[in-house]
Amino acid sequence: MARESSVYRCQQCGFASPKPGTCPDCRRLTGELVPLVEERVRAARGGRSAVAATTRPLALKDIASEEGDRRLTRIGELDRVLGGGVVKGSLVLIGGEPGAGKSTLLLQAARALAEVDPPVLYVSAEESTAQVKLRADRLGVGGEGLLLWAENNLALVHASLDEIRPRALIVDSIQTVYLPELESAPGSVAQVRECGGRLLSMAKGRGVTTFIVGHVTKEGALAGPRVLEHLVDTVLYFEGERHHAYRVLRAVKNRFGSTNELGVFQMGEAGLSEVKNPSGFFLAERPKDAPGSVIVSSLEGTRPLLLELQALVASASFGTPRRTVLGADYNRVCLLLAVLEKRGGVPLGNQDVFVNVAGGARVTEPAADLGIVIAAASSYMERPVRGEVIVLGEIGLTGEVRAVTGLPTRLREGAALGFQRAVVPASNLVDSPPLPLEVEGVATVGEALEVLLG
Ligand code: TYD
Ligand code: MG
Repeated sequence: MARESSVYRCQQCGFASPKPGTCPDCRRLTGELVPLVEERVRAARGGRSAVAATTRPLALKDIASEEGDRRLTRIGELDRVLGGGVVKGSLVLIGGEPGAGKSTLLLQAARALAEVDPPVLYVSAEESTAQVKLRADRLGVGGEGLLLWAENNLALVHASLDEIRPRALIVDSIQTVYLPELESAPGSVAQVRECGGRLLSMAKGRGVTTFIVGHVTKEGALAGPRVLEHLVDTVLYFEGERHHAYRVLRAVKNRFGSTNELGVFQMGEAGLSEVKNPSGFFLAERPKDAPGSVIVSSLEGTRPLLLELQALVASASFGTPRRTVLGADYNRVCLLLAVLEKRGGVPLGNQDVFVNVAGGARVTEPAADLGIVIAAASSYMERPVRGEVIVLGEIGLTGEVRAVTGLPTRLREGAALGFQRAVVPASNLVDSPPLPLEVEGVATVGEALEVLLG
């Protein structure tokens, strides 16, 4: 006899309670009153305790270490982000906004996996097999060893594993598959979590390498992929502006490799192609000697990336001046502009400021602080930063320029692209190894303004 019970769950963060009401976590964090939604759960036959009996604790010394058997997807950028290919039996989540190219990437990866280790099962719960076939034709993916299945019921997929015996499984997407024993709709937190759990046991139990696609909205609002993050081995996020051709694949969690690795792709007529020289790609349209344009070298994982920061400072016509930021953290930019005004003596109180990272790229690290400040000052003064200079440094509230990590790596990328000079934190130059560029150290924002725009 199946027993039914109810839980009340927050659809934003996954908080569960035995009683109805609003979510206390969301109220505390965002002030929002999010109503809890009832979910009816039927207890599965046998229950979970049946699993527990098959395992027992082992002495650490008796456990054989496993290197992890890796397979290459032959998409170099993807293999690198995964830590050198995908580990057999691992569970990989690829999140991203709709239209980022997740299905495209996985279909391309499936091709190589199907060649070396067939069969590969691609469960398409969003698109018909004809639609996937159309995309495969466009990408030039042949059919060898690749099975397509348009099915939303994950229980059916599970039941067919004995017969199909796939070596790799792709589920596109986690929001559209469901387990019939749960009453909530596909895409609800309960379904996403249970389906994730089921896929985990399939991957680990049978050694099936599994890729899960998860949609994330711009605000990261959809709880779906977020509730899966702790469950899976690897979380990759696929980002990029819809109107730009380039896409960045980031590892944010990886049990089998380093995180913060980065892969760069370009979306074209025949799918995604790797961008081998991303810095060159992002700097391709850079204006020479234009006020408000500064080059920084950002370090993502082990990989340096040269990016162009642009700022436009214009007198505000009336009211509160505007701050608009694309590709960088809004609050950080506001803080930096306040430091520039107070410590650098550049009056921005009645100026609109727009900051943009060219090419639709994104900078997330404080090493770009000095670049943002110099770009704003350069635009305000209508004075360009002359020559091929890279600007680096974190900025503190007193206007001090703080050291950055990985300076030699960052500057090597600059040297490779023909830059001759860099302005860097003075503290980085103490006991520094020989650097590939001519460097000048600065300790404060004021000094940097003097050196670059004076
Ligand atoms: P898709 O992989 O379907 O994105 P997701 O699965 O993340 O939602 O593809 C995203 C976009 O890429 C789609 O709008 C069409 C475009 N595209 C190309 O430009 N070239 C191609 O070869 C393919 C397959 C897609
Ligand atoms: Mg898709």
